[in-house]
Amino acid sequence: MQDSETIDQLADTPIARAAQAAVQAIGRAGEGLPRPAATRVIVVANQKGGVGKTTTTVNLAAALAMHGLRVLVVDLDPQGNASTALGIDHHAEVPSIYDVLVEGKPLADVVQPVVDVEGLFCVPATIDLAGAEIELVSLVAREGRLQRAIAAYEQPLDYILIDCPPSLGLLTVNALVAGQEVLIPIQCEYYALEGLGQLLRNVELVRAHLNPTLHVSTILLTMYDARTRLAAQVAEEVRTHFAQEVLQTAIPRSVRISEAPSYGQTVLTYDPGSTGALSYLEAARELALRAQVAGTGAVGQQRSGVAAPAAQMVQHSTTEGNR
Ligand SMILES: Nc1ncnc2c1ncn2[C@@H]1O[C@H](COP(=O)(O)OP(=O)(O)O)[C@@H](O)[C@H]1O
Ligand SMILES: [Mg+2]
Repeated sequence: MQDSETIDQLADTPIARAAQAAVQAIGRAGEGLPRPAATRVIVVANQKGGVGKTTTTVNLAAALAMHGLRVLVVDLDPQGNASTALGIDHHAEVPSIYDVLVEGKPLADVVQPVVDVEGLFCVPATIDLAGAEIELVSLVAREGRLQRAIAAYEQPLDYILIDCPPSLGLLTVNALVAGQEVLIPIQCEYYALEGLGQLLRNVELVRAHLNPTLHVSTILLTMYDARTRLAAQVAEEVRTHFAQEVLQTAIPRSVRISEAPSYGQTVLTYDPGSTGALSYLEAARELALRAQVAGTGAVGQQRSGVAAPAAQMVQHSTTEGNR
């Protein structure tokens, strides 16, 4: 009697829960996910800083790779945070995305494998990229340089995830021209929706003039804190207006997620059993399986009108917020 009680109590300790989660995570990681028919190029964008773009890019990429897919992360932020998180050296002399965009170097010359995660690759960004926004202005076909570099890259890839800087300048435009899908991370806090209308209008402009396949395919709620009512309210509002785009999985606020980059790691290798790692594995599964059902091309057609209602919604939220 006493023994079974002890076992019950043990099963409910934090360590037991973590161990159970780790077993689950490892099991799922080995499971495999469907390969898309063609490479899915996903632009992770939101001109607000600190909403989880980089964290989402590297962890989703690692999760997809751990499911057996071939994934490339393109770091398009001069800060090079995605490169850091993937353990890729990015001091000024390292061949980087700058050389590709400004000097016209082939992507193949700057791609590096990520140690620790098979099937995961990275194009690093160095601080040179800070000047690219201005240097690109005078170049031929300045909006399409990344798109052409990706088109000329012959290695087979299942996913390319592009980590954008926190602005809507030429670097982000290059990403939007290169991709078919936009993934918007939204932080569950008060000003979460501010600026979203502007982002959606830009997506719409690029779609209308430069890249007809572009659409917002995915919205991911990040840094979700289940203890606050605000997070729940923001989540609900986003889910109401973007019912089709929002992933069911929300990424919780997690110390493990924020610690991982300082070890040059994603949370999936840093602490595979943590809730943060599990949530990114789950989000990656959803991302991969959803497209399978919807068919990437069809979603593009169907969702092309997303900007209009969303822009209204944002307007509405901002007005409410000002009262
Ligand atoms: N789910 C999370 N839990 C805790 N901290 C997080 C989480 N997601 C991101 N962070 C932290 O928040 C900060 C901003 O995230 P980041 O991904 O760099 O945003 P962005 O690329 O949009 O600027 C970073 O310090 C990161 O470690
Ligand atoms: Mg970033």
